[in-house]
Amino acid sequence: MASLKLIFSLLAVALLSCSQPQAFPGSSFGRAAGGYTGLTPDFYRFSCPQANEIIMSVLENAITKDPRMAASLLRLHFHDCFVQGCDASVLLDDSTATRSEKNSGPNKNSLRGFEVIDEIKAKLEQVCPHTVSCADILALAARDSTVLSGGPHWEVPLGRRDSRTASLSQSNTNIPAPNSTIQTLITKFRAQGLDVEDLVALSGGHTIGAARCVTFRQRLYNQNGNNQPDVTLEKNYYNGLKVACPKVGGDNNISPLDVSSPVRFDNTYFKLLLWGKGLLSSDEVLFTGNVGKTVELVRSYAESEALFFHQFAKSMVKMGNISPLIGSKGEIRKNCRKVN
Ligand code: HEM
Repeated sequence: MASLKLIFSLLAVALLSCSQPQAFPGSSFGRAAGGYTGLTPDFYRFSCPQANEIIMSVLENAITKDPRMAASLLRLHFHDCFVQGCDASVLLDDSTATRSEKNSGPNKNSLRGFEVIDEIKAKLEQVCPHTVSCADILALAARDSTVLSGGPHWEVPLGRRDSRTASLSQSNTNIPAPNSTIQTLITKFRAQGLDVEDLVALSGGHTIGAARCVTFRQRLYNQNGNNQPDVTLEKNYYNGLKVACPKVGGDNNISPLDVSSPVRFDNTYFKLLLWGKGLLSSDEVLFTGNVGKTVELVRSYAESEALFFHQFAKSMVKMGNISPLIGSKGEIRKNCRKVN
């Protein structure tokens, strides 16, 4: 009788676990703010086991040639996820059916890295055709770029599919501007299911890469419409920036977002904010914007790189889980620039 009971309970457990989506050992299903997303790190375990290796090898080459590329690829994933969710909509070119997000205010003359994504996609199509989505390539490229720059590693939940549409208007409204107030930053992140911890940690992505003069000129010459510089700028830093970014001309001159270690993923970005050396106004307001919680978080990440790395990884997974297309939604594009 006891053994019969045991057989029944084993059967019940087996049946129950069959009704759940199956995770492979070691995998953790992606969880969005709203719950289960259907993504899993082992998604390509059998269909394209070489995917990670292929992506990493293309990135190693690309970043060796152009160290800034790591930053550009990290940013691409962010700009993808904030518009219709992480669905590679950002990669679609203009066509009769598509108004490309590449022409939005935040993206035009600014986003980089499309050719690197093309190269990865072409290699993946050779080895496992019609299998790895462009949206997943963006998520993996963001993670690998972080790692190659010296930042944290995390498991990327996978299984996103690609959109058949883009949204130029969402790209213009959802992605925060560099002169956003702290309240606007908080609101725009909250609209994506991301909280203040995510905002501060993810802003730490500005530990690598650069920004054009047009994105921070206002701070140098006319912060509040009164022909005065932003008072939070440290004096020497401000003087240097004025050389790189004159009042007139030089719109596309670039300056590092983290002036002391522009290609190293570390926590100096937060230390610089304490010293008035954040490049964008949206960086500095995390510390000067009178929201106690963001000030406190900036201080703790400046103090502990480990804490920053831990939260950055967590927040990247959360951002990567924004409204993925799964199951039969969307498609797996053959060419990331156009729908099939
Ligand atoms: C909090 C709101 C944010 C604002 C207002 C913002 C704004 C900007 C701006 C204006 C630039 C320079 C663009 C240009 O020069 O044309 C930039 C660059 C960059 N952003 Fe953000 N960003 C934000 C959040 C993020 C997040 C969440 C990430 C990633 C996790 C990120 C990663 C980057 C990187 C890596 C670069 C440098 C790109 C390169 O060098 O090519 N940013 N950002």
